Amino acid sequence: MVRIAPSILSADFARLADEVARVERCADLLHVDVMDGHFVPNITVGPPVVASLRAATGLPLDVHLMIANPDAYVGRFAEAGASIVTVHAEATPHVHRTLQAVKAAGAKAGVAICPATPAHFLEHILDLVDLILVMTVNPGFGGQEFISGMLAKVRQVRAMIEDADRRIDIEVDGGISDATAPLVVKAGANVLVAGNFVFGGGDPCANIERLRRSASSVLPSC
Ligand code: DX5
Ligand code: ZN
Repeated sequence: MVRIAPSILSADFARLADEVARVERCADLLHVDVMDGHFVPNITVGPPVVASLRAATGLPLDVHLMIANPDAYVGRFAEAGASIVTVHAEATPHVHRTLQAVKAAGAKAGVAICPATPAHFLEHILDLVDLILVMTVNPGFGGQEFISGMLAKVRQVRAMIEDADRRIDIEVDGGISDATAPLVVKAGANVLVAGNFVFGGGDPCANIERLRRSASSVLPSC
């Protein structure tokens, strides 16, 4: 089954609770993009906003940390109510230790890789992760164009997971639309993040349903 995670990066931050309410009945997860102005050239929100979101929605919070030195913060995001804490492999010299810290803090552990980072970087941490986020744009901004070269990487990651006989979600993030969703699902992704496509105009739930339909069109029907 494919799950859809709308990204609040493209929502109206001044009306965050209302925006989240608009996707409450149709989303599977809520994707929260945390940016620090160091790891990526943009700044968004921190643990207090995650704590407020936790109180405002029943959706699992999928927190994507695009921050330097994530070791110093993963505990605070878990405490604030993140269900999944995803750290970038490029943001810490000791991603193995960082993932252990996420698990010790009681959240599910995700690892993200930027477009230039090869899939084999993940080989020795598969036993620690619940989710692998393959970035399909360079992190930092919503509304960017999907990088189609990432489809091969998604296929590689899917093969690695199958070889290791592990149950790990593959999430994709960046440029996901009803045109790119079937491609990433066919390559092996099962969690789709979408910001602009969901909140960029029209009814967010109708947009999510469009995404779900296009994603499911490539899955075998039962
Ligand atoms: C980009 C963020 C994404 C962003 C995706 O760095 O990680 O989650 O919201 O936005 P779209 O779906 O508009 O490409
Ligand atoms: Zn994201």
